[in-house]
Amino acid sequence: MENIVFPEGFLWGAATAAFQVEGATEVDGRTDSIWDAFCRVPGKIVGGHTGEPAADHYRRIEQDVRMMADLGLAAYRFSIAWPRVRPDGGAVNQAGLDFYRRLIDTLLEHGIRPWPTLYHWDLPQKLEDLGGWAARDTAFRFAEYAQTTVEALGDRISSWTTLNEPWCSAFLGYASGVHAPGRTEPSAAAAAVHHLLLGHGMAAQVIRDAGAGAGITLNMYPIIPADPTSEADLDVARRLDGLQQRIFLDPLLHGRYPEDVVEDLAPLGFSELVKDGDLAVISTPLDMLGVNYYSEHYVSAEPGETLPSPWIGVGEHSFPRREDAPRTDMDWEVRPDGLTSVLLRVHRDYPPIPLYITENGAAYPDLPGVDDADRTEYIASHLRAAHAAIEAGVDLRGYFCWSLMDNFEWAEGYAKRFGIVHVDYETQVRTPKMSARWFSEVARSNTVAS
Ligand code: NOJ
Repeated sequence: MENIVFPEGFLWGAATAAFQVEGATEVDGRTDSIWDAFCRVPGKIVGGHTGEPAADHYRRIEQDVRMMADLGLAAYRFSIAWPRVRPDGGAVNQAGLDFYRRLIDTLLEHGIRPWPTLYHWDLPQKLEDLGGWAARDTAFRFAEYAQTTVEALGDRISSWTTLNEPWCSAFLGYASGVHAPGRTEPSAAAAAVHHLLLGHGMAAQVIRDAGAGAGITLNMYPIIPADPTSEADLDVARRLDGLQQRIFLDPLLHGRYPEDVVEDLAPLGFSELVKDGDLAVISTPLDMLGVNYYSEHYVSAEPGETLPSPWIGVGEHSFPRREDAPRTDMDWEVRPDGLTSVLLRVHRDYPPIPLYITENGAAYPDLPGVDDADRTEYIASHLRAAHAAIEAGVDLRGYFCWSLMDNFEWAEGYAKRFGIVHVDYETQVRTPKMSARWFSEVARSNTVAS
């Protein structure tokens, strides 16, 4: 078997997010985020689970960072909790900043590069009460929070990510309502897209003014029309791609919203939200783009989806089931080739920009001590796909697997396990799975068996 060797300096890491791993939701001045509130609504989270105890990471950073070092990880992608740093979106909370400084210092002591994200979905509930991302003002509050955080921690950070998967924040949060804050208001979802992007742009300016690199992480999927000869299927695929990808990529990298998407969203008043100068802010030059990749969307114009749907402006459509690929515990198809194609697509359609895979991984129903050959193969096949993109000329600089350890999988609670490290939520014992041992070897050798 021949080995696939990644470019020198390729960055190997693992990722988590604050609300999914930290626990300690009520300590040191933290106040509610929209997820704390959403978890209290009966029926929203499988098993009635909440952000407690998660992986108790807040109290275990020394141990967890040592574990990362033992695994030979070069970088750790984590997120900073806005409700710790500026509780209720208001005054600065030094205890919150101190926690992240301790985490960052511990990482640096172990030679691990901190890769922080400013917003991984935990909007202070107080700001949601004032309108949330549907309100333009939230973008300005986000910029203030970014300023505080970058000023306090920036001496140790070379690149910052502003937002994680704004598609989910806008459309799962405000259109389908399966994520916090659980609203089902299409026009609020459309407004959330613009305000998230505006907040991103202002934060990117803060970051660049501080001399660091700024990036954003998007979730990307190839959109496959069920019948590529059907006009109707092609049109639905175009609309879906517009809403999932181009509505973010185009303003960020081309400085304009795609015309067809603006038209699709016209009934929701989308263009009226865009004020003079907004697009210049949103298209603040980016130093890197993070791609989160899990699967593909296979779509048909046949009606069928349940309502409310996140796909506002797409019209009648359905996602027919394909049986020619294995599925993970999330019921997501395993489609490694789709990773090559999303990377190539960015490379082909947009100006040159360094890319990082900021998330990729799979949920499987692991028991402690069980060897997760399925997850190992998932990651291996996606790394081969990533390498194929590099060979085709894509400027891909790193890979973070999702996730370092089992954690709170949002509306799915703790039942879905994405970790390469198993977490026993009763005892908080961490046990590296086979995938962790394998990934560790990949990271150390910069090589994957083909
Ligand atoms: C995307 C999100 O960023 C992360 O929080 C989530 O757990 C994974 N994908 C898996 O669904």
